[in-house]
Amino acid sequence: MSVPCPLHTGSFARNCEVPDTDLNKPIARFEDLRGILRYVPQFRQRVFVIAIDGALLHQPGFPSLLQDVAVLQSLNIEVVLVFGARAQIRILAEKRGVTLSSDDGMGRTDAATLEIAIEAITRQSSELMADLTALELPVVISNALAVHPAGVIDGADLEFTGRIERVDDETLAVLLKADIIPVLPPLGYDSRGTTLRLNSDAVAIEVALALRAAKVIFVSEAGLTNTDGSRLAQLSVADAREIYKRKEARHDVNLLSKLRYGALACQEGVPRVHIVDGSQDEALLAELFSNEGVGTMIHADDYQQIRKARSSDVPALLSIMRQSMDEAALVPRTREQIQARIKDFFVLETDGNPIGCGAVHTYDEDGGKIAELACLFVRRSHKNRGHGQRLVAYAEDIARQRGSDVLVALSTQAFRFFEEKMGFQVADTSALPAARREKYDRSGRNSKVLIKTLK
Ligand SMILES: CC(C)(COP(=O)(O)OP(=O)(O)OC[C@H]1O[C@@H](n2cnc3c(N)ncnc32)[C@H](O)[C@@H]1OP(=O)(O)O)[C@@H](O)C(=O)NCCC(=O)NCCS
Repeated sequence: MSVPCPLHTGSFARNCEVPDTDLNKPIARFEDLRGILRYVPQFRQRVFVIAIDGALLHQPGFPSLLQDVAVLQSLNIEVVLVFGARAQIRILAEKRGVTLSSDDGMGRTDAATLEIAIEAITRQSSELMADLTALELPVVISNALAVHPAGVIDGADLEFTGRIERVDDETLAVLLKADIIPVLPPLGYDSRGTTLRLNSDAVAIEVALALRAAKVIFVSEAGLTNTDGSRLAQLSVADAREIYKRKEARHDVNLLSKLRYGALACQEGVPRVHIVDGSQDEALLAELFSNEGVGTMIHADDYQQIRKARSSDVPALLSIMRQSMDEAALVPRTREQIQARIKDFFVLETDGNPIGCGAVHTYDEDGGKIAELACLFVRRSHKNRGHGQRLVAYAEDIARQRGSDVLVALSTQAFRFFEEKMGFQVADTSALPAARREKYDRSGRNSKVLIKTLK
C-alpha cells in the first residue's frame, strides 16, 4: 500500500507515492513540509541548474532523485537539467573494444570516441525522457547551445571536442515560463552540422550564467570531504580554486572539475554552487531546504550563517546587545549571565562577523513544553534585510527540536514585529511558566507577552 506524498501537488501528485512505512511518522513529514515551505518564497521563479553525473542514472536511488526534481518544479522553481555521460561512455567503449581518446569532454575526442559518446548519450537521453515522462513532467531535449570546435590547445588538436560559444537563453526562458524542463545533454552541434562532445559541468555553468540562475547544483557520484573524512560544508571561490590547484588525491578528477567550474560560475555571477553526493538519499532536497545542508556550497559573496554560540562569542554577544540594552529593548545581561547559558544562544554571522543573535530558554517545571525566545537582536547596520525573521525561524526550529509546543517572547518595542512578521499573538502573563512569571513581575518592565504555537 502507498499514500500520496504531501509535498507533491497537481499532476505530479498522481504519480508520487511514498511507502506505507512512512505512515508511522506523519508528524515528521509535516515538519519536513514546514521546513521546506520556509525557503519557498526566496526560491520561487528562480532558475536552478541541476547537473547529474551519468554514473547516478543507473543507481537504485535515481528515481527518488528525479522525484525530488519534480518537487522543486512543483514549488515553482525553474529547473534546467544537465547530465553527464562519462560512466556510460566508458562502459560502452569497453563493450565495443574501443580505446577512448578521453572520456570527459575536456581532452581530445577522436572520431571513434565521438561515435561511442553519441551512442551512449543518445541512449541516456532516451532513458531519461522515459523516466521524466513517467513522472508526468513536461521536458524538452534542447539544442540551445551554439558550439564550435575547441580547436588546438597546447599544440594538440582536440578534434571533436566542443567549446560553448553562446547559450540561446531566450528559447530556454520560454520553455521555463511554460513549466517545461529543458534537458541538455553533453553534446553540441556547430553551424556546419558537426556533432561535438562537451563537458557537462561546463554546460551547466554556461547555461546558469546565461539564465542568471540562482544556483547550480552538481549531483555527483561522491561528495567532498576534509582530510579527516568529515563533510566539507562550504567553500569560498578562493578556497575552491586552491583545492582545484592542489589537486589533492582524495578528490577525484570528477570532483576537481566541479570545483573548477563551480568557482568559475560563482566568480562570474552565480550566487551559490552546491556539490552533493547523489548516492545519499534525499541529498538534493536536504542540501537546499535545511540550514546546515548535506553537501558542499561554494559561495560568491559574504556567506551568512546562523550557528550555535560558543564561549568565545560572549564578548561579541555583549557588544551586539549593548545598544539594545541601552535603549531598554533588551534586559541588561552580564558577561557571567550569558556565559552561564551560552548553550542557549545562537549567532548570525556574515563572513565570520557576528551581526545578530538570539537565545532559546526552556523551563524544567513544565517539562520544556514552553520555550522562550530571548535576546533577539540584529545590529542596526544590518536591519531590514530579513535577518530578524531568519533568527526567529531558527529559534522556532530549535524549540521544536527540543520538544516544545509553544514559543514565547517578551518584548517592549518589537511586539509588532513578532505579531505582523512572525505570526505571534499577544497573550497575558498566564502563558508564562510560573518561575518566569515571577521574574517578569519583579522586573517591572511591563513587556508584552507574545506567544506562538509550534505544532
Ligand atoms: C526586532 C528586530 C530583531 C528585527 O530585525 P530585522 O533584521 O530588522 O528584521 P527583518 O529585516 O527580518 O524584518 C523587517 C521588517 O520588520 C519590521 N520591524 C522591524 N522591527 C520592528 C519593530 N520594532 N516593530 C515593528 N516592526 C518592525 C520592519 O519594519 C520590516 O517590515 P517590512 O518588511 O514590512 O518593511 C531588530 O529590529 C532588533 O534587533 N530590535 C531591537 C531588539 C529587540 O527589540 N528585540 C526583541 C526583544 S527579544
